[in-house]
Amino acid sequence: MCGIVGYVGQKQAAPILLDGLSKLEYRGYDSAGIAILNEDEIRIVKAKGRLNVLRQLTGNGENMPGTIGIGHTRWATHGEPSVTNSHPHYNRNRSIAVVHNGIIENYQQLKDRLTRKGYEFLSQTDTEVVAHLLDYYYKGNPLEAIAKVMTRVEGSYALGILFQEHPDTIYAVRKGSPLIVGVSETGNYIASDVPAILKYTRDVYYIENMEIVRMDAGQVTFFNLDQEEITKELHTVSWDLEAAEKGGYEHFMLKEIYEQPKAVRDAISPRIKDGRIVLDEMNLSDDGIREIRKICIVACGSAYHTGVTAKYVLEGLTRLPVEVDLASEFRYRQPIMEDNTLVIVVSQSGETADSLAALRLAHEMGERVLGIVNVVGSSIAREADNVLYTWAGPEISVATTKAYSAQLAVFYLIAVHFARVRGQIGEDEYGQLIEELKQLPDKIAAILGDRERIQWFASKFSSARDIFFIGRGVDYSVSLEGSLKLKEISYIHSEAYAAGELKHGPISLIEKGTLVVSVVTQPELFDKTVSNMVEVKSRGGYLMTVTTIGNYSIEDTANTTMYIPKTSRWFTASLSIVPLQLFAYYVSLAKGLDVDKPRNLAKSVTVE
Ligand code: AGP
Repeated sequence: MCGIVGYVGQKQAAPILLDGLSKLEYRGYDSAGIAILNEDEIRIVKAKGRLNVLRQLTGNGENMPGTIGIGHTRWATHGEPSVTNSHPHYNRNRSIAVVHNGIIENYQQLKDRLTRKGYEFLSQTDTEVVAHLLDYYYKGNPLEAIAKVMTRVEGSYALGILFQEHPDTIYAVRKGSPLIVGVSETGNYIASDVPAILKYTRDVYYIENMEIVRMDAGQVTFFNLDQEEITKELHTVSWDLEAAEKGGYEHFMLKEIYEQPKAVRDAISPRIKDGRIVLDEMNLSDDGIREIRKICIVACGSAYHTGVTAKYVLEGLTRLPVEVDLASEFRYRQPIMEDNTLVIVVSQSGETADSLAALRLAHEMGERVLGIVNVVGSSIAREADNVLYTWAGPEISVATTKAYSAQLAVFYLIAVHFARVRGQIGEDEYGQLIEELKQLPDKIAAILGDRERIQWFASKFSSARDIFFIGRGVDYSVSLEGSLKLKEISYIHSEAYAAGELKHGPISLIEKGTLVVSVVTQPELFDKTVSNMVEVKSRGGYLMTVTTIGNYSIEDTANTTMYIPKTSRWFTASLSIVPLQLFAYYVSLAKGLDVDKPRNLAKSVTVE
């Protein structure tokens, strides 16, 4: 959600900014712009729409000389997508330029005050308030002005700032929105995410909330809000740029679907040692695990869906009560915590605003928080008491696939480990479940081999108006994710229902030819769900089913069946989701849509 890149160094800045912004496209945007400081003038070029428009306007950046600049991709919050509303924004005499990611919550109040002081606003954005506020406080010392602005603005922000009077320096700050600093021999960078600068450097600093960055071509200095210099640890990014590029696949989503066997293996294998699950990162002793009375899982979107699956698996295996909440609900519903509650916050990006707020609320309530996070060094990873990283590698497609699968895998490890420690399963079952876990990657790979059939089926239903997903238990949780995947990238209206709920309302929506996708992997629920499928069929619905190899009797009811390999009933979600991900992908492809960057969506939702 919004992308920031900044560069100061020996090379021409504009092409570097454009290149960096292109690596942040996955975050979602509707306009873009760059500001270059050259010969004592800040020149801004902005464009609505794709980055290519900005490229054309600037001759790929070549027409904008200068070795220092800031760039931005905007995902509209305040004010429609337009050239005027896109960033960077100037102050009134064009001596300051600002790019911003986040939301200034008290912007209206600040805007009113600044208007009374004679400031004129050209855009409808909250960001322009920052540019004018900087102007108001700036008396020759940028640090001082920035620190004052930080005490006045409320909300979340990462800012990149240029001052005409300081032509060799970029300033940056963050509160709540992600920002990193990259350093290299030939210049220094700021960026919202690592892929933007990975081509140039692997050496990065993670900026903490309320920290200020001052950087020129040769030096980066960090300050706290009191403008005191602080020291920070330099980190080296271990993954390759290749991991964040398409590598021959038509889309990142397809590449990431195909990376799932590896992602699941990378999440599981290092945590199984000598046939035992080892979760040292949790820092929870066996006694500590036995003392837990309740687990609360909090997340958004697909991460929430992994929590729904985990509820079935954790309760089934450990007999611990599990609550699952959407983070946006949790934070406002005044949750009741008991002693010895373990709160688990799940997030691919580690920057989701609601999830982060939920984590902080849990801390305020004195609870211990475990993060299940993909992005190393992200806010949730840093603020959680302990983190189990999913190690899925960079995920670029807005529609998550491999991070979702890796999250599931981490939950399985927790469930099996807790079940053994709490005496709910014996050594034999423990060993069998671990064996099953180890085989999951190969079983996912086997399903990927069937993609042509799914593509053919998807092309048949690409013009559907509504598609429904049903299932019971773990299969219901997979239906939720299958439906989300489909709607977010195909724009087809889709809902998921617990199969038993059909006759309490949704069945009235079934017409001749309506596609209903059923997930039927749970042996003890098989007949129940098949009965619901029969109800759909007798009303003219078309049934596509995902079930386990061997359940051939389902073909008496289903019109089309996709089979997945056998596994433990607790782990079927990792397999049954794969045909549904491919189905969503191929429907989107058949409709000629932008698979990786669906409209109105952002990869990382850093605003409430
Ligand atoms: C999934 O495909 C979505 N793009 C979205 O629901 C996502 O899972 C959600 O925004 C949570 O993101 P996070 O995992 O980065 O916190």
